[in-house]
Amino acid sequence: MDRRERIGKTPARLDFLQSFTGIALALFISFHLLFESSILISKEAMYTLTQFFEGYYFFGQKYPLIISALAAFILLLIVVHASVALRKFPASYRQYRAFKTHMTRMNHHDTSLWAIQVSTGFAMFFLASIHLYTMITLPDQIGPYASSERIALDMMWPMYLLLLFAVVVHAGIGVYRLILKWGFFEPKNPKALHTRRALLRSIMYFVITFYLVLGVASLGRYMVIGYSGEFAPGERYHPQGAAQ
Ligand code: HEM
Repeated sequence: MDRRERIGKTPARLDFLQSFTGIALALFISFHLLFESSILISKEAMYTLTQFFEGYYFFGQKYPLIISALAAFILLLIVVHASVALRKFPASYRQYRAFKTHMTRMNHHDTSLWAIQVSTGFAMFFLASIHLYTMITLPDQIGPYASSERIALDMMWPMYLLLLFAVVVHAGIGVYRLILKWGFFEPKNPKALHTRRALLRSIMYFVITFYLVLGVASLGRYMVIGYSGEFAPGERYHPQGAAQ
C-alpha cells in the first residue's frame, strides 16, 4: 500500500479508537456509580458487592488482586483515550485564543460543550490518577467502613466531589457528541434535525443530573458513616455471620 494511502486512514482510525475507548469508559463509569450507590441501600449491600468483585462467590475466597488488575486495565484505557484525545487540545496560546474568540462570537451550544469536555478531561488527568492509584495499591481496603474512613476521615471527599463532577459531565457530553458524530440519532427528515438535537441534549442533561445526584447522595452517606463514630480507624465491616 502506498504511504499516502496509509496516512489518509490514520485520522479515521484514531477517531474510532477515541470513540471506542470513550464508550467503554462511559459504560464503566455508569455501572461504577450505580454499584457505588449500593451504600444508599445498606452497608451490607455494599459489602456484598465488594465481596462479589473480589471473586468471593466464585472462588470461595477473596482475591483483592482482581480489583487491582481491573483498575490497572481501566487506567490503560484512560491512557489510550487521553493520548488520542490530546491531539485535539489547543496546542498553543495562539490556538487557544483563536478557539476562544470563535466560541464567544458563535455562541454555539455544541462548541461550548466541547470546551467543557476539554477542561473536564484535563482535570481528570490528575483526579482519576489519584483514585486509580489508590485502587491499584490498596484493593483490600474497600468496604462500608474502609471506604467511609478514606472519604471522610482521610479527607478524600473534596477530591471525589471534583472527580464526580468532572467524570459525569465529561462522559455525558462525550456520549452526546459521539451519538451526533456517528449519526445514530439522526432523523430521516433533515428539517427535524434541530428538534432531534434539542431532544438529545435534554436527555443528556437528565442523565448528567441523575448521576450527579446519585453520586453526591452516595458520598454523603459515606460521610455520615465515616463521622458516625460507629467504627474505630482500621476496623472492617462484617455483617453478622459473614466470612471474615
Ligand atoms: C477498576 C477501577 C476502579 C475501582 C475499583 C473503583 C472503586 C471505587 C470505590 C471503592 C469507591 C468508593 C470510595 C473509596 O473506597 O475510595 C469509588 C468512588 C468513586 N470513583 Fe471509582 N473506582 C474505579 C475507577 C474509577 C474511575 C476510572 C473513575 C472516574 C474517572 C472513578 C470515579 C469515582 C467517583 C467519582 C467516586 C465517588 C463515588 C460517588 O460519588 O458515589 N472510579 N471508586
